[in-house]
Amino acid sequence: MNENMRSCELPIPYPPLKTDGKNLYYAMLLTNDLAGAVSEMSAVTAYSFQHFVTYNQKISETIKCISLIEIRHLGIIGKLISNYGGNPRLAVQAGCKSTFWNAQYISYETNPKCYLKENIVNEKAAIASYNNRISQITDRAVQELLKRIILDEENHISLFSDLLEEFY
Ligand SMILES: [Fe+2]
Repeated sequence: MNENMRSCELPIPYPPLKTDGKNLYYAMLLTNDLAGAVSEMSAVTAYSFQHFVTYNQKISETIKCISLIEIRHLGIIGKLISNYGGNPRLAVQAGCKSTFWNAQYISYETNPKCYLKENIVNEKAAIASYNNRISQITDRAVQELLKRIILDEENHISLFSDLLEEFY
């Protein structure tokens, strides 16, 4: 694909954010996607860090743009947890046990060749997690929203792959 053609923002709207009542089990499942090791919080933090330390302008700006999409995802997942009656603090809830998100979840890799590869691995893990969630949460509106988020994560993989191809 032409290097200037792919945008970090897909021209596809997000389905409305609504949940079918309260469901603490669904809320608990989604805390993994909010604040687990591979989660929206980890993506936002890792990509922000990569933006700070990268002086290749194209890579730095692309990462910044992707980090803003991840903030949007963080907001969606947080709101879903809240709507389901859960607590959207940055902690994975498993029964009565809470594990707070930890800044050591991210690698702080500064070499773009290395972190772009890492990002692709993490985006693939995020997609697998969302597909798992879609099979667990039988709430059609939420399934549609998670499928839309997956489209963004797939687009991020393409963007990271393009950057690897162009510069490394
Ligand atoms: Fe995301």
